[in-house]
Amino acid sequence: VSLERCHNIADLRRRARARLPAPMFHYIDGGADDEWSLRNNTSAFDDYLLQPTYLRDVSEIDLSTRVLGQDLALPFFLAPTGMSRLFHHHKELGAARAAERFGTIYSLSTLATTSLEEISATTSGPKMFQIYILRDRELTREFVQRCKQAGYQALCLTVDTPLAGNRERDHVHGMTMPPRITPANFLSYASSFHWLYHLIRDPDFRLANVAHRVDALGKGAMGLIEYVNGQFDRTVCWDDVGWLAQQWDGPLVIKGMTSADDARRALDAGATAAMLSNHGGRQLDGVPAPVDCIAPIRDAVGDRLELIVDGGIRRGTHILKALALGADACSIGRPYLYGLAAAGQAGVERALEILELELARDMALLGCASIADLDAGYVKHRSER
Ligand code: FNR
Repeated sequence: VSLERCHNIADLRRRARARLPAPMFHYIDGGADDEWSLRNNTSAFDDYLLQPTYLRDVSEIDLSTRVLGQDLALPFFLAPTGMSRLFHHHKELGAARAAERFGTIYSLSTLATTSLEEISATTSGPKMFQIYILRDRELTREFVQRCKQAGYQALCLTVDTPLAGNRERDHVHGMTMPPRITPANFLSYASSFHWLYHLIRDPDFRLANVAHRVDALGKGAMGLIEYVNGQFDRTVCWDDVGWLAQQWDGPLVIKGMTSADDARRALDAGATAAMLSNHGGRQLDGVPAPVDCIAPIRDAVGDRLELIVDGGIRRGTHILKALALGADACSIGRPYLYGLAAAGQAGVERALEILELELARDMALLGCASIADLDAGYVKHRSER
């Protein structure tokens, strides 16, 4: 199937599934425990109805917006996701270049397989770095300095990951980092020729942002994962967020909250934005869908905090609903990873293009010509009459 024949994100997902070894596909696709939150993230959008208004001039649709101090061509951007080299040899660079071409933000994960310096040296689009407050605070401080030096515009602290969630598909399919071919998963690797070919040509799966620390300890690739796991710090609390905000005097996003109380605390700690997210259903199963949290959190914080929403977005209408409910922007994870796995940078571009085309068409059908004009009048909960 060629990329032009991928008409929607579900088509890209099918293509990714056909091209990736099973462990890698399920690492992208899966969620925690029974995957209730994963499914609910998308199905919760069905509880909101769009209310069009007709005979408005929709000859020009303006999708641009401003968030995190950046002018963006689109009201959605790429969420941070770790270890892109697992999915395609274009890895994070392919995704960052695609974001640059579409005039939107690329978020680089701490756990990336490309260094933050390499991303900033080879792309010039708006960039955000996703940080964790690690056990080694000096390393965290070092990240902040490196981001300033490399010209990152925003910093994003993920708070829903004191430890990794229970992703059972990873156990079932033998997902490891770096990838390990075992008798149980041998067949699925053997049938992914393209992926295997590039595995042999470029077997570098190092977590590039922390590799220097592990090198200094004289540990190999497996030692790296142990090192990172050992760096997750369950003692981190709001005082540490205040400390981080002081180190970084730019737009600071707290990612991974679903309650109004946490949004208020983020504001008090010095954040400029909150990312309403449950990590795409990969952490605690049973957490509400981010789309359901927009209105109450907007009521609680007013305009003092920018709100970004991610989780389950697969259609332009999902973005419309989130923005109409009060989000300033959305971000996407799996949709662009399916694209990356399907065809590298071109696949990420196709994912962005699909959502851009859907959104522009949906805006016209809704009778709203500009993102700035989208408001609660265009959406209602299905329980309202
Ligand atoms: C993620 N996500 C994530 N978040 C984060 O803060 N740091 C990270 O390193 C990662 N890594 C990661 C890997 C993979 C494979 C996925 C699918 C997701 C979560 C991500 O930023 C985002 O919150 C979700 O992906 C949004 O949900 P959708 O769009 O995937 O449904």
